[in-house]
Amino acid sequence: MVQKLLDFLQIDSEDRASALMLSELLKPHFDQAIEEFYATVQDFQINPFVTARTIPVLKERQKQHWLSLLHSRFDADFFASVGRIGVRHRDIQLNPMWYVAGYTRLKLAFIEIIIKSDLHVVTKGQLVKTLDKYIAIDMSLALSAYDAVILD
Ligand code: HEM
Repeated sequence: MVQKLLDFLQIDSEDRASALMLSELLKPHFDQAIEEFYATVQDFQINPFVTARTIPVLKERQKQHWLSLLHSRFDADFFASVGRIGVRHRDIQLNPMWYVAGYTRLKLAFIEIIIKSDLHVVTKGQLVKTLDKYIAIDMSLALSAYDAVILD
């Protein structure tokens, strides 16, 4: 099923190379982007589990997750991690609406970094395409783990 998802999204060797470029480009910005993300989530009082005490841990976990996603490690560990994200979010009763909207905020922050980079415009376009595909992998698998638990 996972391979079918990768095939459906047409993940190819060009995407894998772009994902590595993205990882290098975004790495220095992860801390700030993820911190701003959780600060907004806290401001909007989206979920009581996001607090000054939990944010540092969440930031670290999310950063690690991004690195493994962008290294195209589509192995058992990665899928276990995505499944865990879905289950944890469901356990804290995070409405999928906020997960999807939250993911969009993060994606826009990353796209802003791509736009402001010195890369050629064609490369920027390729990076945005790959980012979108990789986020689709991550989000769809995490959300399908939500469902699996709900259906259990
Ligand atoms: C409004 C949106 C979000 C809220 C309120 C939220 C909140 C949380 C909370 C409270 C946890 C800890 C759950 C626990 O262990 O008890 C968690 C785990 C996590 N979240 Fe989110 N989250 C949101 C969106 C996202 C997004 C967009 C990502 C993108 C990758 C993400 C990645 C993670 C990761 C990697 C973990 C750790 C899972 C693990 O323990 O392995 N979250 N989230």
